[in-house]
Amino acid sequence: MAYPFQITSLNQYHIDYKKSIEQPEEFWATIADTFYWRKKWDNVLEWNFNEPKIEWFKGAKLNITENCIDRHLEKLGNKPAIIWEPNNPEEKVRVVTYNRLHKRVCQVAQMLKNNGVKKGDRVCIYMGMIPELTYAILGCARIGAIHSVIFGGFSAQSIADRLEDANAEFIITCDGAYRGAKDIPLKAVIDDALIGNKTVKKVIVYNRTRTPVSMVKGRDIWWEDEMEFAEHQIENEGNVHFEAEEMDAEDPLFILYTSGSTGKPKGVVHTCAGYMVWTTYTFVNVFQYNPGDIHFCTADIGWITGHSYIVYGPLSAGATSVMFEGIPTFPTAGRFWDIVDKHKVNILYTAPTAIRSLMSFGTEPIHNKNLSSLKILGTVGEPINEEAWHWYNENIGLQKCPIVDTWWQTETGGCLISNLAGITPSKPSWATLPLPGVQPVLVDETGNEITEKDETGLIKGNLCIKAPWPGILRTTWSDHERCRVNYFATYPSLYFTGDGALKDGDGNYRITGRVDDVLNISGHRIGTAEVENAINMHSGVVESAVVGYPHNIKGQGIYAFVIYNGTDGDENLRKQDISATVSKIIGAIAKPDKIQFVTGLPKTRSGKIMRRILRKIAEGETSNLGDTTTLLDPGVVDEIVQSKL
Ligand code: WT7
Repeated sequence: MAYPFQITSLNQYHIDYKKSIEQPEEFWATIADTFYWRKKWDNVLEWNFNEPKIEWFKGAKLNITENCIDRHLEKLGNKPAIIWEPNNPEEKVRVVTYNRLHKRVCQVAQMLKNNGVKKGDRVCIYMGMIPELTYAILGCARIGAIHSVIFGGFSAQSIADRLEDANAEFIITCDGAYRGAKDIPLKAVIDDALIGNKTVKKVIVYNRTRTPVSMVKGRDIWWEDEMEFAEHQIENEGNVHFEAEEMDAEDPLFILYTSGSTGKPKGVVHTCAGYMVWTTYTFVNVFQYNPGDIHFCTADIGWITGHSYIVYGPLSAGATSVMFEGIPTFPTAGRFWDIVDKHKVNILYTAPTAIRSLMSFGTEPIHNKNLSSLKILGTVGEPINEEAWHWYNENIGLQKCPIVDTWWQTETGGCLISNLAGITPSKPSWATLPLPGVQPVLVDETGNEITEKDETGLIKGNLCIKAPWPGILRTTWSDHERCRVNYFATYPSLYFTGDGALKDGDGNYRITGRVDDVLNISGHRIGTAEVENAINMHSGVVESAVVGYPHNIKGQGIYAFVIYNGTDGDENLRKQDISATVSKIIGAIAKPDKIQFVTGLPKTRSGKIMRRILRKIAEGETSNLGDTTTLLDPGVVDEIVQSKL
């Protein structure tokens, strides 16, 4: 047993699970005891879901970077913390040891201090997947600033909205980012996002692609210059490092924006202590990490998966985390397998959409790749279909690697329902059992727990969680009421996930997908209302309705029904213009896969769009569209069906 809290047998899972529910405070105190605290907690847990108020380890003092870095230095100082694989395989790999990480993170913290950043300030980070991104994140955490990482695919408008919501005064970015054959001009996007912005005081720019950038005097500064200055300063002041800020357990650690059923993304807030304990505990147990293992999570750090399982979880466990700058298909569709082979990866954690996309290239890209180092495989982001599961198992895991299907969300901080690799049984396309501390419940529309099995022997309902685990979100930034309404008000005293699920007789869960107006496109969450708002920004659009439909690679595709009033004739050009509008407003990830022009939308007499009908049409249904008699104008349905793409 490498970690005191590591679950090493099925029997122990059951014992730990039981204890975590019956005596949660004792259970989590024992686990938390294995971390480094400046001061221990007064109270393990205080909560009610009605406000909601959730406080873990209240009264404790800590800094998460001392747990992710400093506490490892004595024994693991020369161990690689990060192995960085560049976009271009010809470029040199960078290996960042814990010692080096410590040095760089201290420099970032000093650099931030020099530029006026204080504890509690919001720092927006918009960078590619380079080691400096990790330094930036941890540098913020070390000085107690709240980071808000924005995925590099979001548009200037999306960034502007997030900057405003978070009232951010500082930005860390790059001149550009390499992604496959593309150079993405990140700083230029930031410049656009800052037009009209009144709060941002400083923009720190790291030079990655040598793309020409405009540097605004007094506002924009170079990372390299500032870091060099900070380095000398730490030495000249006779310090061994930058002293970490002492944080309260419940001080915010970061904000991460995510889509919901309204048009405006929410800033999910995670706090220092609970998030640290949860990501570390789940990292070690789900992936059965053992010291020396090489862990490769293919996510982008712009999403929660990267925060929790590239940065915080692995580093707090003293692990070696592979960070990949590029994309799975560049320069060839064998890139992941090259990386596994080259770095002798033991744990590979990726998304079903990536697996399906790589499946489409056949097994040729795998030939001559040595995948024998792999011990454990993982997936996240959406339900994994059985075909993809078996392909992954046979071709990548060579039938010897347990696959963990990890269900969780931005709001949950880390995995909630997942098998533990090689410890608890797997079941293709099932996330299986809840982790210790997690109490799922399936409810009907009115919030009553469902206990009746359906004709297939399964219980089917909306997935809720009864009590807090350490990694649960605490609030949504600047709007606590929104957090309550979104997650805790649908069903009294329950956290509502927005997902539907099935439960079998052994207590296994299968997530069936979102039951709200949220799409899951390639494992990324996008709200239908957000896409509609963006489409409606186009001058020729009168109204639109967006639904998801099954997509071979992406899992779900975006299908837009659009009423158009423009005079321009060419339909294809119109579609391109609409797509370009969505790209500008949200980002390329939200571009519709299909746009169908219609003259009307199915609406109830009270004017509500009947998405249920549109969803069926988008799925290819033509006759069984359900009850259409309550529609204002049932005729529009026939017309839409007839002109279906
Ligand atoms: C939504 C959360 C958690 C990191 C990635 C996505 C879906 C996630 C699974 C899974 C079935 C899954 C859910 C969830 N989801 N993992 N293993 N099986 N569905 O984070 O953007 O916050 O999205 O992704 O629908 O609610 P996110």
